[in-house]
Amino acid sequence: MKNDDTQMHVRGASRFVDDIPAPGALHAVLFTSPVAKGRIRALDVSKAKTAPGIVAVYTHKDIPGLNQVGHVAKDQPLLAIDSVEYIGQPIALVVGETKRAAKNALKMIEADIEKLTPVLDLREAAAKGHLHAKRRVMISGDPDAAFAKCKHVFTGTLASGQQEHFYFETQRALAIPGEHDTIKVCASVQSPGAFHRHLAEVLGIPMHKVELDIRRLGGAFGGKESTAVWTTAPALAAFLLKRPVKLSLERNEDISTTGKRHAYEYDYKLGLDAEGRILAYEITLFQHAGACSDISLAVLGRSFLHIGGSYNIPNVRATAMSCRTNIPPNNAFRGFGVPQGTFAIEAALTDAAQRIGVTPETLKHKNLIKNGDTLPYGLQMTDVNAERCWETLDKTVNLAARRKAVAEYNKTHADTKRGLAVVPVCFGISFAQTALNQASSLVHIYVDGSVSVSAGSVEMGQGVNAKLRIVAARTLGVPLERVRVDTTNTSRIPNASPTSASTGADLNGMATKYACERLRARLLEFAAKQLQLPDASTLDIRDGEVYASGKPAELSWNKLAKDAQWARVDLGEHAFYATPDLYYDMEKERGRPFAYYSYATSVTEVLLDCVRGTYDIDSVDIVQDVGESLSPEIDIGQIEGAVIQGIGWTTIEQIRYAPDGRVLTGVNAYKVPDIKFCPKNFNIRLLKDSSNPYAVCNSKAIGEPPFVHGIGAYLAVADALNAARPGRKAPSLPLTPEKAFMYLYGPDTKEKNK
Ligand code: MTE
Ligand code: MOS
Repeated sequence: MKNDDTQMHVRGASRFVDDIPAPGALHAVLFTSPVAKGRIRALDVSKAKTAPGIVAVYTHKDIPGLNQVGHVAKDQPLLAIDSVEYIGQPIALVVGETKRAAKNALKMIEADIEKLTPVLDLREAAAKGHLHAKRRVMISGDPDAAFAKCKHVFTGTLASGQQEHFYFETQRALAIPGEHDTIKVCASVQSPGAFHRHLAEVLGIPMHKVELDIRRLGGAFGGKESTAVWTTAPALAAFLLKRPVKLSLERNEDISTTGKRHAYEYDYKLGLDAEGRILAYEITLFQHAGACSDISLAVLGRSFLHIGGSYNIPNVRATAMSCRTNIPPNNAFRGFGVPQGTFAIEAALTDAAQRIGVTPETLKHKNLIKNGDTLPYGLQMTDVNAERCWETLDKTVNLAARRKAVAEYNKTHADTKRGLAVVPVCFGISFAQTALNQASSLVHIYVDGSVSVSAGSVEMGQGVNAKLRIVAARTLGVPLERVRVDTTNTSRIPNASPTSASTGADLNGMATKYACERLRARLLEFAAKQLQLPDASTLDIRDGEVYASGKPAELSWNKLAKDAQWARVDLGEHAFYATPDLYYDMEKERGRPFAYYSYATSVTEVLLDCVRGTYDIDSVDIVQDVGESLSPEIDIGQIEGAVIQGIGWTTIEQIRYAPDGRVLTGVNAYKVPDIKFCPKNFNIRLLKDSSNPYAVCNSKAIGEPPFVHGIGAYLAVADALNAARPGRKAPSLPLTPEKAFMYLYGPDTKEKNK
């Protein structure tokens, strides 16, 4: 995968926040809560203040503005006031000449905290009514009447676990104070507009005095979208001390105190007719949100809108709850709730197929969504590519033959078993929160003909900058090298939406295209005058040259730019884009929350070692609908990355807690997939002849949808386990080798879903 940063990345030359020279910068560290729930009786920082190398120690009392970083609801103080709600919650900020001095001084803070009983279990939180918002309920059709007509009704419970983002660059920021009480913050964050606002609120100054600059992130995956603690804390110190201040979390600090993908539990009831058609589905989502609401309700909302996966389900009753518990607040993670919503229906259908005695593929294919079907929130579907993706995959890999080969292998092998799973994906693209679907872009043409693009999108490795360059170069008709994408900066682009929900390239690409179209039209009009033509209708710019009626006009792009500026033609343009026709009514749970859907189908095959419980991911074959890809190279890179990250979530990545609510898992015990764990055969095909009028240049979003294929690894391992020892309830997700081993050899305690 080649993007704008590839060469620098592999040579270690790319600058991240910690690489920005900051002479004289102080170092800030956080003193955090040692208990999961408690009342702060007394806090004494006086000794720490006089420790060697310490410049300042701040508590909530020192915050000049609002002591609040709650992303949506105002429920998260930057520094605790009189209570703490999770282990790792910031209480005080220590600023030292060196990081070591600051860390040493942490031990000298005296906090008298009365321990209270935390709630750590999401079912307990749900039973006690500890929710971040009232539960959502969505009903379509008449589920009760439909269940009465079903030939088969299956009920069950499911669970899926957390996932640590494991971005290479941990949470960090550098704050540099300026004149007139201004401040510049270089940070590793996905949401320029929101963090800009948080910074101004905490410091108590207007937003025009704060400049947030973002060059690139060393990975984010959703984990840098919402929590402003690690950005506002160093800014607070820099603002009060009038000196540059850095804060960067160490890896284990990052793992134990930052949010993760939410764990969920699910109660479901699935009803099928005699032919295996889904008639009714009832699902309750319990989301393990943690101590503050952060961005949890948005994530839950997206799970909620994807409970049907890729299937047509005429009668639905869905309930969703965001449970408040005493763990660090969870946040966005690639897929933004869709993997969880999709997991439940995928697991439920797979279980149903085993009970009826058909292959899961048969049931899934039969129920695949098609044009004219209605989603549970009342939207009638058009432009559905689910069947085309499935068929294309089937044509290339022959699903029935694969299934037959797996069954035959399993008949003749006792110590190893094969498992297979097909996963279709239907992923809505847009922010479910309609207001966020906006972007702007600022394009400058300089007198030498070079072009600079500033947009609201954030480069985090996904290649959005490369895509913006492609859009700008194509629209203006100049070579790629003539275009450069500048940093994401709140002084150039105000109020930018987060780069998330896979909309970065869609929205910012569209704004960039609009700006470039206007510049191009203006320059062509000027060129027509220069060439003494009546108008610009016969003119074109290709590869940096002007053409008239298809022939070179002896006028280069560079000369055109120079002449136009001299003739006082405006060479700068700002453009805005807002996705049209989006609306959603949360009361009725009806609307059109997404501009379009991204489709795909994959088949995953695994080989289980029945002696050890370990397994290999033998192959993943995918057909992915990316519309007309802006860059197949980048899109395939995104698919590979997302699938492997998805496989990690469903198989080996696991966070454990001690009974007191402490995160036990550190970097030594948390395994993300390594090269040996990747699929041995990994074949990606982009769906041909797909177009999409709802995103830039007919492309489709790619950042998150392929993550959902990771569910195939879970289902395939469960399939192999079922072949080895049929009739047991599949282990919860992640299906670690440990759980596989216990499934094979453990006591038969867990009842199978009914
Ligand atoms: N790819 C890389 N290399 N690093 C990342 O942090 N984040 C993912 C995805 N791909 C991520 C990534 C997530 S969570 C999202 S929402 C999209 O990129 C955001 O980028 P886009 O909207 O431009 O697709
Ligand atoms: Mo992605 S989880 O929407 O940042």
